[in-house]
Order: sequence, then C-alpha cells, then structure tokens
Amino acid sequence: MATQRLTSQDIDRQREICAQLAELNAARATPPLAFVDTYGCQQNEADSERLRGYLREMGYGFTDSEAEADVIVINTCAVRGHAEDRVLGNVGALVHTKAEKPSQIICLCGCMMGEPGMVEKVRASYRHVDLCFDPHALWKFPELLQRVVTRRGRVFDTAGGDGSIAEGIPLARQSALKGWVSVMYGCDNFCSYCIVPYVRGRERSRLPEDILREVEELVAGGCKDITLLGQNVNSYGKDLGEGVDFPWLLERVCAVPGDFLVRFMTSHPKDASIRLFDVMAREPKIAHHLHLPFQCGNDRVLAAMNRRYTAAHYLELVRQLRERIPDIVLTSDVIVGFPGETTAEFEDTLRLIEAVRFDALFTFIYSPREGTPAAKLPDVLTPQEKQANFQRLVDAQNAISHEIHAGYVGKTFRCLIDGAGTDPRNDLTARTNAGRLVHLSGPEGLIGTFQDVEITGSTTWALFGRLKEGEA
Ligand code: SAH
Ligand code: SF4
Ligand code: F3S
Repeated sequence: MATQRLTSQDIDRQREICAQLAELNAARATPPLAFVDTYGCQQNEADSERLRGYLREMGYGFTDSEAEADVIVINTCAVRGHAEDRVLGNVGALVHTKAEKPSQIICLCGCMMGEPGMVEKVRASYRHVDLCFDPHALWKFPELLQRVVTRRGRVFDTAGGDGSIAEGIPLARQSALKGWVSVMYGCDNFCSYCIVPYVRGRERSRLPEDILREVEELVAGGCKDITLLGQNVNSYGKDLGEGVDFPWLLERVCAVPGDFLVRFMTSHPKDASIRLFDVMAREPKIAHHLHLPFQCGNDRVLAAMNRRYTAAHYLELVRQLRERIPDIVLTSDVIVGFPGETTAEFEDTLRLIEAVRFDALFTFIYSPREGTPAAKLPDVLTPQEKQANFQRLVDAQNAISHEIHAGYVGKTFRCLIDGAGTDPRNDLTARTNAGRLVHLSGPEGLIGTFQDVEITGSTTWALFGRLKEGEA
C-alpha cells in the first residue's frame, strides 16, 4: 500500500492553531509552562522534539517540574511491562499535582496509547488525564490540545491504523551538537515478542530530499553528530522504488559538506548487507559503530522469535564487518527468558557473546506483551531461573566490556567534546567516534569541537582521558 503523506496544508493548519493558542497564552500575566516527559527509544525522543516544537509555537516555556507545569505531556513506551508500570505509576501520582493546580492539562501519548485496552483503562481509571493520542495522531497535537483548552472536555484520538508521514512539524531540538533524524517510521518485521509493529504502524520511508534537507539544516546549525533513526533502517526505501535503499541514503547524507559524524540505528541482521558494510568502511563520516541486535544465540529460539536469521549468519555478518572495519565497535540487544527457552538454549547466547565480544550489550528479561504471538507460548523456566541466566549474561558481558575498555588505555582517539562533566576533576565529557564515553578535563570552550584525546584509564562503562599536548 502506498504511504500516506500529509500535505503541507495539513501541517500549516496545525501551525495556525499554534498561533491562535499563542495569542491566548500571550494574554496571560506570565508565559505558561509545559513539561514533556519522554520514555522509551530514540524514536520517542525525536517525537518529543516535535511535541516541544509545537508547544513552543503555542507560546509555552519549558519546565522539568510537574508541579509548575500548565501542560504535562507524557510520551510513553510500551516495549516492556516495566516501562509501562513506571508510566502508570507516574501518571497516577499526577492526581495530586492536579488537585493543587486544577487548570493543569495532562496529556498521554506515545506507544502505550496504541495498545489494545490501554485507552479504556485510562478513560476509566485515570480520570485526571485530559488528552490521549497515539503516535499516528502526533501531527495534530495542536488541534487536539485546542479542543481540550476551549471545551475543557476529555479528548481521545487513538484510532490506530497504518500511519502516515508528516513533514514540516516544527522541532525544538534538545541538543545543538547531536541531532536525531528519522528516516523511516513503523516496523513490518513482527518479531513474535514485540509490540512495536502494532503501535507504530507499517514501514514507511521519508523522501530522501526531506531527509537531506534536515541534515543540511542540522549541519548548518553546528550539529556534529547525526543519528539516522528507524526501527530497521535497512528497510529504508523499500516503499520508494528502484535504487533507493539505506546504503544509497547513507552516501547521500555523507555527501553533505561539513565536519560531522553519521550513525544510525537500528539494523536488523536479516537485512544488514555487505553493501552497507562497504559504505561504512568507505565513508569517513560514518562512525565506526554498529548496533546490531541479535536477541538470542540459539536457532530454535531465534525461529520462534521470528527473527529470520541464524546464529551462524549473525557471526558471518560480524566477520565480514570486521574484515572491512577492524576497529568497529559492536553493540547489541539480547532477550533472556523468551517463552520456551531452556537454560541449555540460553547458553548458546553466552557462547555467541564470547565469540563476538561486543563492546556493550543492552540486556532484557522477556516481558509478555498482550496481542503478540509469543505472549501465548508456555514457559519452561521459573522467573528465578530466568533471573539467574540474566545475571550470568550480565556478568559475562561486564567482564568483556572491562577487558575491551582496558585495551583503550595508552591510545589516542579523535573525540567530540560533548558536554560538561559532573565531577570537578573531569569537567568535560567526550565521545569517541564510535560513541564510547570519555571523562576528561579541559576548557569549557572546547565543547562542540573534535579533539585528540589520549586514554589514561578505564572502567567497565567508561574511559578516562586527557587532551593531547597543544590542544588544551
Ligand atoms: N527495532 C529495534 C528494537 C526496538 S525495541 C530492533 O529490532 O532492533 C528495543 C529492544 O527491546 C529490542 O531489540 C529487544 O531486545 C527488546 N524488546 C522488545 N520487545 C521485548 C519484550 N517483549 N520483552 C523484552 N525485551 C523486548
Ligand atoms: Fe520489534 Fe522486531 Fe520491529 Fe525491532 S524489528 S521493532 S524487535 S518487531
Ligand atoms: Fe518503546 Fe515505542 Fe520506542 S514501544 S521502544 S517508544 S517505538
């Protein structure tokens, strides 16, 4: 099915509503404040930059205080039960802030609002929530908020569907140095454990010219580190026709003039191609980092997860990648305790991480998501056994990360100085090209520049360094 692209008139209309609300807000003695609270992945962070962009056009200032806020927007994540429980706990607690400040408007959006049953739950049990909308309705946030402001009734827009593409939504970016650029939305992979395809709709690609324009604007504004986002960036362009795919897009992005780094996430191993690796090896602007989630090292479990690759295929990808980029930093996601996974099968995951030696892992205990096929599968392990396996994985990976980091000591890396540190002895933070965190000390004026940093120490999670002579 062809991707539905909203017209510029659709977004212009929303911006007109922003202007009307801004007029109302300007009449107030002090500018009203908004708090946008974001859970989940970078896609949600990117969406929150759009929500803030709209709010800024409506005349809102920003606060991190729930008590102070006139509008609270909670951008939720549905990927695991734990994330949801945190959101619901925090939403529940807002009853008290709203009791103190009855004019406060509370909005819930993001992936949880696309889940079956969730909106009914909010309607019935969280009566202080004024507005709910799902990711597909984000583009019309101004219209929805205006309805709440003018009618003071509750508004729900959670119709779901395949999703559309909206260009031209204003952005209030969180960082001047680092920028997210979505290249596609949605997911068609339907991994059997995952809720994302149900709440984010079908895969749809932004047009290359829109992506490139955004990259050019970011670079012109001083951005040094650009992350291209999609649930599976390797599917980019499938809906756009001949010749347009992710390696092609990467080359176009790198052709934008300027000194900046490009990274991307996430890549699905079934679609990661040798062409992609060749482009990564050839283009100096592409960070030597790949996040390539393998989820599990056992082929039976991988098939039950509907991942459509084997452990051997994954290892072959890593071999091909390292052949081309020997210093590639590899990170990955792993799920422990998928229903039916035995401890013997889990040990294949341990073997895989020992074989690959990832720089870092994001490890998760399987969380059943209602409506996904895996949620109906029976378990063979108890929660305690799953927890014990999880701990074995974490311990094994920590030992690997520790050793890899120790190997950095004495070497020099070109790093982006990206912020002020929290420790007075290390008043700056930096990132290696591949994204490893380095603590160091130096003049604040270096923030936003690339510098050569010699690594002088390491822990499991971070590196310590000093500016090379002549640069401090
Ligand atoms: N699109 C990305 C991942 C999005 S979700 C990809 O395919 O790589 C981020 C991670 O959350 C996944 O890689 C997976 O490891 C984990 N995850 C997803 N659903 C989960 C579930 N039901 N329980 C536990 N972890 C889950
Ligand atoms: Fe979920 Fe799989 Fe899609 Fe990633 S690729 S978002 S894990 S369904
Ligand atoms: Fe969560 Fe939605 Fe991202 S479920 S991980 S916020 S796509």
